[in-house]
Amino acid sequence: MEKIIIEGGYRLQGRVKISGAKNAALPIMTACLLSDEKCVIRNTPDLVDVASLSAILGELGAGVERGEGGTVEIKVESEENSTAPYDMVRKMRASFCVLGPLLARRGRAKVSLPGGCVIGLRPIDLHLKGLRALGARIDVEGGYVLAEAPRLRGAKIYLGGPFGSSVTGTANVMMAATLAQGTTIIECAACEPEIEDLAHFLNKMGAKISRLGTPRLIIEGVDSLHGADYEIIPDRIEAATYIIAAAITQGDVTIESARLEHLAAVVDKLSEIGVVVTGEDKSLKVIAPAKFSSTDLVTLPYPGIPTDLQAQFTALLSLADGISVVTEKIFPDRFMHIAELNRLGANIRKEGPHAIITGASELSGAPVMASDLRASAALILAGLVARGKTIVNRVYHLDRGYERIEEKLSSLGAQISRIEDERGSSEEVIYT
Ligand code: UD1
Repeated sequence: MEKIIIEGGYRLQGRVKISGAKNAALPIMTACLLSDEKCVIRNTPDLVDVASLSAILGELGAGVERGEGGTVEIKVESEENSTAPYDMVRKMRASFCVLGPLLARRGRAKVSLPGGCVIGLRPIDLHLKGLRALGARIDVEGGYVLAEAPRLRGAKIYLGGPFGSSVTGTANVMMAATLAQGTTIIECAACEPEIEDLAHFLNKMGAKISRLGTPRLIIEGVDSLHGADYEIIPDRIEAATYIIAAAITQGDVTIESARLEHLAAVVDKLSEIGVVVTGEDKSLKVIAPAKFSSTDLVTLPYPGIPTDLQAQFTALLSLADGISVVTEKIFPDRFMHIAELNRLGANIRKEGPHAIITGASELSGAPVMASDLRASAALILAGLVARGKTIVNRVYHLDRGYERIEEKLSSLGAQISRIEDERGSSEEVIYT
């Protein structure tokens, strides 16, 4: 088991390039199951999640080859096996996105239920509701979703749930609808840029999706899709994590290959804290104040502040002047990082779906345990500014979502390294 060691207190300076978006890459890779022609996906991040999904696509008959510079080529060679097994799906929820494409193209699919995870309950009722509305017969048996439909039919589908839209739910239903007979209208579709990116890719494959990026997607079904060559958008969560890294160390950093238009709510909230982010021509400049102001923050579906940045904002606000309240509206139990941040000297308490943060004047290094991907990022951010040494255990979470994070942070002047824990561990790795 590996751990990351950070010597805090170094100001970050320089330029860092953002990788392709994980949450766009994963559904786009599953969309390749919709055709038997070769697809070329560029700017695919080199992450454990991408490797895990490649293995699942391989199991489902696709050849997946990673080339230079983030290019991944995917071509379905055999359509015989349509079963995505438990051992593979439970490791990464996004792999459930194979369900829609398999069902639409092969008329059948057997995909393991992904289960819950450390950030809370992760139901899939909206995915199944949408696919049933398209005419699929769906049974849940022995921990698997069994889906069947000789040919899906277009339908009007409302995809909102108790927490708003579902990102991967929208991906699954939109992908299935591309090959349905007739027109599908999805109301309360997720508007995340990654869903828009997936829709652009599908259209490049020959799909007919309109009103991209809006909560009302219109999909005219077609008979078949062909191969496509596509470049994935930059990762807005990674970009914002580096913006916060620059801010928390009072650094001077230029973030390259990021899109300001995907970060409007984030940049606005940062400005309330005192952090100025300016951008031109896909590169962003971060100017940090000497002291951060407290603020209140609520996570929401896009274009609100993403839940995937809640932990990182919490780390930053733990050093702000005064009291901040962070409210989690997407995953109300996603607060595993609080106890660990408190080990570093933060003063945070949890009240239901709220984190109440009383700003501390400084943090001090300590050993901490990462519980999930974004919690790991928050601990790294806190470690960058904590006095002395911070040791982050269970860093395998980081490799799911941050490409070469120590290398990128080191190049900005952080004192960060990765070591193998000599004691080793037989701990099970479950991805969220
Ligand atoms: C995706 C992202 C994840 C992000 C999350 C919320 C990918 C691969 N992952 O996850 O990084 O944190 O969006 O932005 O893109 N819900 C239901 N029923 C469903 C599905 C979801 O009630 O069938 C609820 C969930 O419990 C949650 C909310 O809807 O409260 C949003 O979840 P959802 O958007 O589906 O998250 P994911 O797509 O799994």
